[in-house]
Amino acid sequence: MKLLYDKDDVPNARKLRDDRIKWLKELGAVALSETPLDDEGFLFSYQHSDEHYQRLVADHPNVTDRPEHRQELVRLDHVLQCLKERGINVPTPKTWVIEVGDAPPADLEFPLFVRTPKTSWKRGGTQSRANNLKQLSDEMELLRRTFGWDTPILARRWINVAISGKFMFGDAPQEIRVWIVDQHPVAWSFHYLHVVPSPTGFPPSAVDLRLLADMAAGIGSAFQSRLIVADFVRDRQGSWWFLEAGPGAAAGTAHEHVFKFVADQIRGGYTPLVGDAVGGQFCLVQFCPCISTRLARSMIKLPLNRVSQKHLHASDGTVALPASSIGRSVQPRRFHAAQQQSRSGQ
Ligand SMILES: Nc1ncnc2c1ncn2[C@@H]1O[C@H](COP(=O)(O)OP(=O)(O)OP(=O)(O)O)[C@@H](O)[C@H]1O
Ligand SMILES: [Mg+2]
Repeated sequence: MKLLYDKDDVPNARKLRDDRIKWLKELGAVALSETPLDDEGFLFSYQHSDEHYQRLVADHPNVTDRPEHRQELVRLDHVLQCLKERGINVPTPKTWVIEVGDAPPADLEFPLFVRTPKTSWKRGGTQSRANNLKQLSDEMELLRRTFGWDTPILARRWINVAISGKFMFGDAPQEIRVWIVDQHPVAWSFHYLHVVPSPTGFPPSAVDLRLLADMAAGIGSAFQSRLIVADFVRDRQGSWWFLEAGPGAAAGTAHEHVFKFVADQIRGGYTPLVGDAVGGQFCLVQFCPCISTRLARSMIKLPLNRVSQKHLHASDGTVALPASSIGRSVQPRRFHAAQQQSRSGQ
């Protein structure tokens, strides 16, 4: 399984000061255009359009993500709809989807955060805020003039976000990107690291990380992509809100170690990540309900005084522990194997 990148992305990456292609090359990644057509690989590339991506991988049947898997994650309205249909409830701001020609819904609650299915136009923060119907209609008009007359508008209940620091566009939020590989949350990174190197509110507590991993596991289970990102923001009361999910192959980060760890996992490797205040790995282990707590603890070398029994028994039998809360990092695949063995032995 090769790590792949698209050569045509190189100039854009340079302009955006996005180092991911450089990091991928350091991991041994090769250009898609120089790869034999039947090779297996995972492609990291920008999301230009659905058609562009279909063309890119059309002749490479063994390259993931397949277009239909990436497509599931491109529009926020589709992501929210999919989660709803599957009964996956994660706290997310109430969202009204306003189609072209629709009157504003009668039950709108201001202030609202206004964006399109694919982007907030990088305006974010207070610039995307509408305090009343007039501001909402002005913002919708501006967005539709830029992104197409028939663009649906997503009006989301405003969250008073906790601030991590200042940057040139104002306050940066305490926002975390969770990286989900093969439906399992494996790592997290502070989302505004490129502009706020030492954020307030970081590192998150073990309890916060556990909660984020649990929410991300639910989100990951709804989509087929091999690499998904889910973004969460903390409000001023300390609660976490799911903001959006997207294709991890097109998702940015300034955290080199987290990115390399994630890319390595995609190709089946596992080099433990030494986390820091702004990013780290989750240690995801799955417990069969029939495994005794004692056995589970001994298997992952948990110091008994640090993780309580409830950590070991989530309702779905899945538990995600931040690496910082365990005595020693665990090789997840090896753990799964041990789990299988112990199950068959019981
Ligand atoms: N409901 C909300 N209330 C308040 N602020 C919000 C809300 N939703 C998003 N934001 C803020 O706006 C920023 C951009 O929003 P969002 O992530 O939805 O759009 P985006 O275009 O995908 O941005 P990016 O690509 O930079 O992540 C978020 O990082 C967050 O700080
Ligand atoms: Mg975002």
